[in-house]
Amino acid sequence: MTIPGVREYTVRRARTSDVPAIRTLIEPLVAERILLGKERVVFYEAVQEFRVAETPDGTLIGCGALHVMWEDLGEVRTLAVARDWLGAGVGYTILERLEADARELGLTRLFCLTFEVGFFTRNGYGEIGEGVIDPEVYSEMVRSPDEGVAEFLDLARVKPNTLGNSRMLKQL
Ligand SMILES: CC(C)(COP(=O)(O)OP(=O)(O)OC[C@H]1O[C@@H](n2cnc3c(N)ncnc32)[C@H](O)[C@@H]1OP(=O)(O)O)[C@@H](O)C(=O)NCCC(=O)NCCS
Repeated sequence: MTIPGVREYTVRRARTSDVPAIRTLIEPLVAERILLGKERVVFYEAVQEFRVAETPDGTLIGCGALHVMWEDLGEVRTLAVARDWLGAGVGYTILERLEADARELGLTRLFCLTFEVGFFTRNGYGEIGEGVIDPEVYSEMVRSPDEGVAEFLDLARVKPNTLGNSRMLKQL
């Protein structure tokens, strides 16, 4: 049954064929430096991390990814909703699904680097400072080539990407 005024969409795992639409969706956000631009190959490599939202006609209206960083720790990344769908609950639904994925994997903490402090605060995330991981784990994580890990560790080399963003964490 279709309820008048309610806009329908579903959230599902991404497929490789979604990569072009995911890139189109985040293109304006990358141009505004809200999200980090990545090579096409990186999206294909990360396709299992992605959930997407689509309308009944197959239009992709949102996406988000969960990246595992440590035994207990993951990152919500590339969460984006199409401009004409903002404020309809799509972001919340994708985030909820990513958090369920995280719990299923055994994660207990989720990191996010974002300008959307209000949205994430309302979804249970809090701003973090220094010292959220112990030095021993830090010394191993710092070996990762991943930009998101470097952003989590607040490394100097990624400071230009993180300028003005908030580092937020949620206890699952
Ligand atoms: C962050 C982002 C994904 C949120 O997407 P969204 O689909 O607009 O999020 P929601 O609709 O779930 O929530 C937005 C607001 O709409 C409200 N809302 C939710 N469901 C609603 C509904 N059915 N009807 C009306 N309003 C609703 C929520 O209360 C929420 O208010 P808040 O932001 O004040 O908490 C989106 O703003 C975005 O793409 N931002 C740019 C990319 C970015 O910064 N990503 C985060 C870092 S990875």
